[in-house]
Amino acid sequence: MIFAGRFAGKVMVVTGAAQGIGAGIAMRAAAEGASLVLVDRADFVTEVEQAIVAAGGPNNPGRAVSVCCDLETYEGASQAMAAALEAFGRIDILVNNVGGAIRMRPYGEFEPAQIDAEIRRSLMPTLYCCHAVLPAMLAQGRGTIVNLSSNATRGIRRVPYSAAKGGINGLTQSLAMEYAEAGIRVVATAPGGTEAPARRVPRNAAGDNAQEQAWMAEAVEQVTSSAFMKRYGTLEEQIAPILFLASDEAGYVTGSILPVAGGDLG
Ligand SMILES: NC(=O)c1ccc[n+]([C@@H]2O[C@H](COP(=O)([O-])OP(=O)(O)OC[C@H]3O[C@@H](n4cnc5c(N)ncnc54)[C@H](O)[C@@H]3O)[C@@H](O)[C@H]2O)c1
Repeated sequence: MIFAGRFAGKVMVVTGAAQGIGAGIAMRAAAEGASLVLVDRADFVTEVEQAIVAAGGPNNPGRAVSVCCDLETYEGASQAMAAALEAFGRIDILVNNVGGAIRMRPYGEFEPAQIDAEIRRSLMPTLYCCHAVLPAMLAQGRGTIVNLSSNATRGIRRVPYSAAKGGINGLTQSLAMEYAEAGIRVVATAPGGTEAPARRVPRNAAGDNAQEQAWMAEAVEQVTSSAFMKRYGTLEEQIAPILFLASDEAGYVTGSILPVAGGDLG
């Protein structure tokens, strides 16, 4: 479903926009009138930019730029916000979508460096981007930040990722409290397991061996059985609540973390 013009005149930055939930958010927001800044470290993020521009029409400005950078560094977050301001002069909405469990295994099986890698992937890009976007939103006197948490804040086989997403919940609530009077809303959704096409960039570049696939299957079973609906969600079922929270329709919602997990509260 498309709400024509819902984001007319708005500039939206989406991180992790090359594939999956991030690409879907960007495509639908563009169809609803937003100008998009697509941030990813995968260079094929330019294909999403091209698709948005090609889809331009009466209600869709077909305006997008892409930025290829690593958001696990503060420099990457700064570069992304600077590119957004250079292209469109303002940032109305920031969707912090980069994240995802790299490995699934019992906590005792994680190597120390692997624990660090999960925090770098699923907490630091959001922490950095929220900081880097503040000057622009404060100068505008308004802005909206939507963070991607997870129902995995309570789940098995990915304790470091759970901790990172618990961190997302904490920063969402505290940032919302600190900047509400400056006109900045900060919200999050907590998706459950989501069906998506095969990933062009895998979560774990090293691949998963048979044991790791077995541990992942245990996590999938736990997630599915914890959901009242006993199924995964669709990409569209994740994108719709994210865009509702990003829109002015959610103008009195801040500091909230909305579970979108078929009844699993995480
Ligand atoms: N898919 C699910 O089942 C699910 C469930 C719960 C929560 N989530 C959350 O939703 C979000 C999106 O999930 P997804 O499955 O669509 O992700 P994905 O792994 O399919 O895509 C992530 C994107 O982020 C990019 N990226 C990763 N690290 C980056 C970095 N350091 N700098 C710049 N770009 C980087 C990747 O290149 C990729 O395009 C994540 O935060 C994830 O934790 C997903």
